[in-house]
Amino acid sequence: MKLGVCYYPEHWPREWWADDAARMADMGLSHVRIGEFAWSRIEPDPGHFDWDWLDEAVETLGAAGLSIVMGTPTATPPKWLVDAHPDILAWDQQGRPRRFGSRRHYCFSSETYRAESARIVSAIATRYGRHPALGAWQIDNEFGCHDTTLSYSPNAARRFREWLAQRHQSVDALNRAWGLVFWSEEFRSFDEVDPPNLTVTEPNPSHRLDYARFASDEVASFSRLQADIIRRLSPGRPITHNFMGFHTSFDHWKLGRDLDFASWDSYPLGNLQEAWFRDDEKLRHLRQGHPDVQAFNHDLYRGVGRGRWWVMEQQPGPVNWARFNPAPVDGMVRAWTWEAFAHGAEAVTYFRWRQAPFAQEQMHAGLNRSDRVEDQGGREARQVAAELKEIGALDPCGRAPVALTMASEAEWHLAIQPQGQGFHWVPLAFEMYAALRRLGLDVDIVGPDGDLAGYRLVVCPSLPILREDTLARLDASGARVLFGPRTGSRTVDGRTPSDLPPGPLQARLPMKVTRAESLRPGGGPTVRIGAATFVSRLWRERIETELAPLATFEDGGPAWVQSGRWNYLAAWPERGLADAVVGRLVADAGLATVPLEEGVRLRTRGGLAFAVNYSDAPRRAPAPDGAHFVLGGPALEPGGVAAWRLG
Ligand code: GAL
Repeated sequence: MKLGVCYYPEHWPREWWADDAARMADMGLSHVRIGEFAWSRIEPDPGHFDWDWLDEAVETLGAAGLSIVMGTPTATPPKWLVDAHPDILAWDQQGRPRRFGSRRHYCFSSETYRAESARIVSAIATRYGRHPALGAWQIDNEFGCHDTTLSYSPNAARRFREWLAQRHQSVDALNRAWGLVFWSEEFRSFDEVDPPNLTVTEPNPSHRLDYARFASDEVASFSRLQADIIRRLSPGRPITHNFMGFHTSFDHWKLGRDLDFASWDSYPLGNLQEAWFRDDEKLRHLRQGHPDVQAFNHDLYRGVGRGRWWVMEQQPGPVNWARFNPAPVDGMVRAWTWEAFAHGAEAVTYFRWRQAPFAQEQMHAGLNRSDRVEDQGGREARQVAAELKEIGALDPCGRAPVALTMASEAEWHLAIQPQGQGFHWVPLAFEMYAALRRLGLDVDIVGPDGDLAGYRLVVCPSLPILREDTLARLDASGARVLFGPRTGSRTVDGRTPSDLPPGPLQARLPMKVTRAESLRPGGGPTVRIGAATFVSRLWRERIETELAPLATFEDGGPAWVQSGRWNYLAAWPERGLADAVVGRLVADAGLATVPLEEGVRLRTRGGLAFAVNYSDAPRRAPAPDGAHFVLGGPALEPGGVAAWRLG
């Protein structure tokens, strides 16, 4: 378990570098990420490389004992490159080329940009790939950030047509698959197909779904192009990419296969303010962050990284980019760091070493203030470093008792056809995930081909495209399974199954969804389980079945049906309802739960239980009497963290 920091030597006078490096080591940091936006300094003019400064930075940081994570600078193609090759630019949905002046302005489908990226990555990997201080590589920076996965450029259109020809083989097959007879949209050749933008009203949803798949494949192949070069020129140095929280525009699982470990950028306060949560929830967790948001993403990226993952950027204080940017309560940066380690992180890297006195992120805190004085985040990082020494090494996380499945195409389909405002996969999955966490359970998030053996309960929040191989893996696992609404409601091509939803699930769970409706806020439905009534929202399905329902809607229609270990919930799992359904299945699976006070969460790793207090009031750690604490104690202040030995 290591700590590190993101550093931009090109932002600071050279005379400061050695002092910065010494202070990083003194703080207890062991690695430093550099380089990911530095193209204009590495290659100021076409073909003219200025290695001098970067050589000195690498030597200086290395000499202080810091291991370097080198970022490839492809998120920021410089001005001369854009001017020489305007075809590298992405085009927005309105059909306008993006302009130079911020970052991520390139198009994944530009072959010129792929060649230019290969060139700069080869040059950097040749220069530093075998340097003893070079510890790992980060490819690009936050793929998809600022809404940049989908590009509608002529390059994208051309490569989309090729992709479609591969996938559908004949244009007749494409016309059939997408149902293009509707509104006379049939094509006579793949050359006639355009990206799905600038249409008068909504484009064909299957067209959009395939475009999402195509764009995702473009991101993955762009990343692979860089990984292949780095592996050749920098043998033995692991490769990662820094993903984002709650981001679903490309298939992380597919991209993750080409990485040695996953990493993500954790901004608990910014993420909360920008996410879908209600205002009262945003207020309640203003300075602590939501108790389940970080954990959800930690569990996700542990899965994407096949057990190996880092936090590559950790919020150190107020950020600059959310609607509102509060400061964390004192102690919270430390608590977030520990929570990442509790979920199996190998490293936590703070963003950034020092607050910048210029440009877009001047209002974004660092571990140090821009006047070079250590800030609150720096003090807390120092404290974690000292605590890490005390605790020593911990084994990685073991298999959790519960799995939650995730497939990117579920989110793509639901975003394309939400049918009711706000029907997205992430908030739906999050309701079920949070219900599991409130019971004190560890959860694994498992991808579309992930192994489901050994889990006692598998939660599939919504799997509209339910593939036979997923069902086969669920059959083999023997686990209890909960499917959420809209599961099995589409074929791979985005059509309604001929036997109606939930399509292939009907062989395990004899039921049919004959109608679905979406409801505006306040419009219900209500769901009854025994004597208890739960107010849900947004969604209701009508189910035909001979099975006796475990829950019913207000008119007696089935809301939750069960056959053996297979369960289907026909409503949005609003808190309360999710607690009841998940709680019952957890009990049926014989899983032990832990009573938690409001805002307290638990995670186990390496024989330790960790508790974090996300509430704004003092709480008790849910430790047994006489527990042996290795961190903190039974009293948890707001932002407090404690760890004790299990068993
Ligand atoms: C991340 C990004 C960093 C920096 C940071 C600010 O999304 O990777 O480069 O912009 O946000 O919080």
